[in-house]
Amino acid sequence: MEDSITRIGVSLPKNLLNEFDSIIRSRGYSSRSEAIRDAIRMYINEFRWLERESGEVIGVVSVIYDHNFKGVTDMIISLQHDFNEIITTTMHIHLDEENCLEMITVRGDMSKIKKMVGRLNSLKGVTSVKLITAFREERF
Ligand code: NI
Repeated sequence: MEDSITRIGVSLPKNLLNEFDSIIRSRGYSSRSEAIRDAIRMYINEFRWLERESGEVIGVVSVIYDHNFKGVTDMIISLQHDFNEIITTTMHIHLDEENCLEMITVRGDMSKIKKMVGRLNSLKGVTSVKLITAFREERF
């Protein structure tokens, strides 16, 4: 069901608009309006997710860390045992001499998943923790 359309005027710095236009061109958007609608939908879904505190979620947590950092590998393994209840699979990829990528698929309550993400983020030697969730997004 298509909602009615409202026109708005937006003021933007030139650089920001140039950057946006170059991205939407490379992605094949035929109009700026359609790209802005998609960008706003992504923004809304992103923040709806951040506000989401509980409920069943399926997702992937990616963790990048320096395996030379003392104790970090053991800590990550130990932490995954603590959260065994929500972990489905773990895949380990050696990125280069120093860096490892751990892809942890999770299924369970969002509050527990967020708790695990928080614990991973707090580990020294960990440089990046990201969560991608696969719950149904609302359409606008
Ligand atoms: Ni490795």
